[in-house]
Order: sequence, then C-alpha cells, then structure tokens
Amino acid sequence: MKILPNTALTYDDILLVPQYSDIASRKTLSTQTQLTENLPLQIPIISANMDTVTEAEMAILMARAGGIGIIHRFMSIEEQVDQVRQVKKSESFVVENPITLTTEHKVGDVRRIVEETYTGGIIILDANERVVGIITTRDLLFEKDDNRSVSEVMSKKVFTAPTNTNLKEAEKLLHKYRVEKLPLVDKNNHLTGLITVKDILKLEKYPLASKDELGRLSVGAAIGVKANDLERVEKLLEANVDALVVDIAHGDSELEINIVKNIRKNFPFAQIVGGNVATAEGTQRLIDAGVDAVKVGVGPGSICITRLVAGAGVPQFTAVNECAKVARPQGIPVIADGGIRTSGDIVKALGAGASTVMLGSMLAGTEESPGIFVTRGGHRYKSSRGMASLQANLARKTRENGKADLRKEEVEEYVAEGVDALVPYRGSTREVLAQLIGGLKSGMSYTNAHSIAELHEKAIFVRMTPVGLKESHPHDVSLK
Ligand code: XMP
Repeated sequence: MKILPNTALTYDDILLVPQYSDIASRKTLSTQTQLTENLPLQIPIISANMDTVTEAEMAILMARAGGIGIIHRFMSIEEQVDQVRQVKKSESFVVENPITLTTEHKVGDVRRIVEETYTGGIIILDANERVVGIITTRDLLFEKDDNRSVSEVMSKKVFTAPTNTNLKEAEKLLHKYRVEKLPLVDKNNHLTGLITVKDILKLEKYPLASKDELGRLSVGAAIGVKANDLERVEKLLEANVDALVVDIAHGDSELEINIVKNIRKNFPFAQIVGGNVATAEGTQRLIDAGVDAVKVGVGPGSICITRLVAGAGVPQFTAVNECAKVARPQGIPVIADGGIRTSGDIVKALGAGASTVMLGSMLAGTEESPGIFVTRGGHRYKSSRGMASLQANLARKTRENGKADLRKEEVEEYVAEGVDALVPYRGSTREVLAQLIGGLKSGMSYTNAHSIAELHEKAIFVRMTPVGLKESHPHDVSLK
C-alpha cells in the first residue's frame, strides 16, 4: 500500500492568477490548437463520443465551427461508417459523382437534366467513358434545336486536373483557365470528380472549419478494443475518417495497448487517440504503443459514477496536468475529457496543459445532439447518459442480440458506472460554442496569453478553499 504525498485537485480547487496583460482586443487572440500533430483545429473543443452527443449532425457543426466531433461507436460498423460519410459529404469542394451524358445524347436531354437537377454544367463522355466535352447552361441559352447532338454543341476544349488536386491548386487552375468547372480525371482521362467555383465559394461561409486535404470536414470516430474492432478501423479509414478514438474507460490496460499497436502496425498513417488515462505512467505507455494524442479523464464526467462504484480515479485538474507534463514535451497533445461545466473550466484545463477539451453533457443539451427532447414542469430538456449507464447498456445489448426482452439476470448483473440523466435544452451548438470561446478568450486575456501555446507557458494557478469557491459564485443576491 502506498499513499501519494500530493493532494490531487480539480477545477473548483484552483483559479488562474490574473497577470499584466497587453491584450487590447480579444479579436487578436488565436484559439488554434492540435488534436494530433497532423490534425489542426481552430477551436480547442471536441464533442464527446457519446450516443446522446455526437452523430453526424453534431459532427458537421463542430467541424464547421473549427473543432471536431467524434462519432460514438454504439452502432453497427455500417451505421458508423455511414455517419462518417455523411460528414465527409456535407461540405466538399469535390463533387464525387458528377452528372454526365455521352456524345450520343441530344440537346433536349441536357436541357431536361439541367432543369431537373439545377446543375449548371454537364460533363460529356465518349463511348469509352473518357471526358471529351462540357456543356453549360450558357451553351443552351440560344440553342433552339433540342434534337441537335450534344457533340455539336458542347465545348470540346475541357480543362481538367488530376484526381488528387487540392483546394489551393484547384483555385489556381480555375483562375488560370478562367473557367467555373474543373473536371478531375485519372491518367486514362476517366472522370473521377468535379470541382466548381460555386462549391469553393460555399466553403468561405465557415472560414474556421476543420477540413482534410480534399476540403472535406474533419471527423473522428470511436472504436472499442475487441478483435472485430480492427474491421471497424479498416472500414472507418476507407471512409476517410480523420481520427480514431480508442474508447475504453481504463485505457492504461493491456487491451488498449494491444489494439493501439495493432492499428499502428496495420495502418501506419492512422491518427490514433488513446485513452482514457489519468497518470503520467499510463500516458507514457500509450505514447510508447504509438498513439498520436492522449485522452485524460477517469471519472470526472457529469454522468460518471466510476469513482463511486470503483473507488478509482484522479481529480481532473491534477490528472490533466500530470499527463500533459509527460506528453507535451514529446509532441503528443492531451485532451481533457469530462468534468467541464463552464468556459472557465476550459481555460483551466488548457492552462493545465491540455491542447483540447472534450465535452459531453454541455453539448448533449443542444439542438444538434441525438438525445431525445423531454419536457418537465414546463421546461425543455434533452437526454444525456453515461455510456456505461444501465439504459445505455440495455440499448447496446438489445442491438447486439437483436431482441428487446433481455433476461432478468442480464439486467441485474450489470454494474453501471454511469447514470441516465436530463440536461437543460441550450439552443444551438453554434450559440453554446460562441459563449465558450468568448469565455476562453476572456481567460486568455487575464493571463496575457495570445495563443493556447502561450497559455500553456504563462498559466499560474492559485489554490482556493471552499470559501473561495463560494465567493466565486453569485452570492448574497437573489437571482432573477
Ligand atoms: P462530461 O462531464 O463532459 O463528460 O459530460 C463526458 C465524458 O464522460 C465520460 N463518460 C463516462 N464515464 N461512465 C464514466 O465513468 C460513463 O458511463 C461515461 N459515459 C461517458 C467520457 O469520457 C465522456 O467523454
């Protein structure tokens, strides 16, 4: 038996010490950070892989805002892959299956398709499916004869680009050729995609959006540690998932180390987030196994009862700080997962060394979460549940067994480490994120940190007593 000498702290035990600040405007502050070394984010917020928090709708919103969502794993491989695909398809400057016609078609066919699909231009293929022309609405404008062959009316001078053309290259080519459409082709001149000026302009609506090199929104997906999870990994990577998040409660374990090593060996380029851990030693073991980021948090979550059931865990501020001290010097970012209730907690987590925070219940109450709406006493709520709660487990078993009526013992034997809960409805994720980022920037200006990297360097914390905490909350007034 050993008792560690230091007292472990959590967010309510400490405050950031205000420092002399030269920040005149919060607009100058950068919240840019890294999920992993290869995955930059413009805001340090990740939506949790919980079935009441992140499916495609939430993930799309998170990525547009500059963060990222992690699709939970409590669905079949096909369903999870479909969720990832929905995110990837939602905003891309490459149309993957452009509409085509052949030289055999008539002008009338083009006119009909243009009217039906609102497409501004159609790529024309020859009998060998090679790109030979393009026909746009402008070509149809004064063309009265619908029986004329497409090959007589189309522009035969088609500017194409290779399949893997990135956004910057595409912009240059569209400008150089003064065209609005750029078909992508393989070496046999077979069509593989289409880039349009219109789609590129749409991207400008979300300037902070997290995107992959092809301009698609970034998205992560959770996986487990069972043998068939490697199949899940393979399918998710085929669907171009950007990060794999190993989702187990006790990440400092042989099961996790084995799957991380396996993924690293079979898919060397996969971005792997390991976790959850709460110690420096656990962090180092995951890094040695090959993870690209470490998720920290054993029992701090709003819906967690692990610390009550198992008696194990580390208060979250200390856990994040201890893990980050080991990980950051090795270039491995830390995610502070769970227990964040305010923007102030986000500033504290980042000050403790985290590069990002993962939010569960704070986002479960938003419009875009998959949780169900509940009305109680005239107020609106959404469901939020621990992924180790009784209800979540019943839902999982029912799905896996394909039957709703589980044996009484199956239900009774389950030891829940999470609760089923309701959270107040909070409106749109966009509004919630705006409040959180505003608060984060305020915290950065109190510490004179112009960036999250500076916050890591400059943060100074002071411990407080329960009386100090009481003073931090509104007191001696009646709240309206
Ligand atoms: P918040 O506080 O943001 O925490 O709601 C979200 C995180 O909580 C973890 N989580 C669980 N932990 N039992 C646990 O001990 C559970 O049933 C459970 N479900 C989620 C998870 O790390 C999540 O990101």
